[in-house]
Amino acid sequence: MILHGAVGPYVHGLNEDQDPLLAEMYDHADEEKIPVVEPPTGRMLEVLCRVTRAHRAVEVGTAIGVSTLRLARGGAHVTSFEVDELRHEAAVGYLSRAGLADRVDLRLQGADEGLASLEPPFDLAFIDGPKQGYASHIEAAIALLRPGGLLVVDNVLMSGTVATGIPAGPWNRENIERGRLLNEQLVANKRLLAAITPIGDGLAIAARL
Ligand SMILES: C[S@@+](CC[C@H](N)C(=O)[O-])C[C@H]1O[C@@H](n2cnc3c(N)ncnc32)[C@H](O)[C@@H]1O
Repeated sequence: MILHGAVGPYVHGLNEDQDPLLAEMYDHADEEKIPVVEPPTGRMLEVLCRVTRAHRAVEVGTAIGVSTLRLARGGAHVTSFEVDELRHEAAVGYLSRAGLADRVDLRLQGADEGLASLEPPFDLAFIDGPKQGYASHIEAAIALLRPGGLLVVDNVLMSGTVATGIPAGPWNRENIERGRLLNEQLVANKRLLAAITPIGDGLAIAARL
């Protein structure tokens, strides 16, 4: 949560869902310290899918499927990559219980290889995998998106550390430098029209030009 004072918890609370399955998934993530999208980010993913009428979405970093579920509920068919077998299996179970098994293609595969195996066009790409892989995953995603498609990238503000320059939590100096460079490259990218927003842990939302 990066918004200061009372604003962060207020926004967080308003965007929380009363959905029991999502609540169970968040409890699971908390217990096992698995990083997943914050509720405002999840809602925004669903909104973005709806407004763009995204049919085909691709995701890097399934974890246990919180964001995958949001994208699928937003109406997209989601291809999602994860390398951790236990997380992948948990996601398969949750998406099946959500009645969305036929809307997702959950692959136990590294994103570099996985993205290279896909055929364009995709309507939306969500990047939320390993931070050291962001630059190459974003490049691969841009190549898969149709003109007018959306690129969405999570954790671009890294708990605010990219602004303060002070390491905190999982974000060390190397992460901060990489994050700052990535944000500058996103807004300068001639193939994108990108906005860096303070949703969740910082969400970049970009139209593929
Ligand atoms: C931040 S979590 C994803 C959270 C998920 N998007 C959500 O909000 O529900 C990042 C995930 O990327 C996975 N990961 C790490 N390296 C990967 C790779 N090369 N390809 C795909 N996934 C990877 C990690 O195992 C981890 O579960």
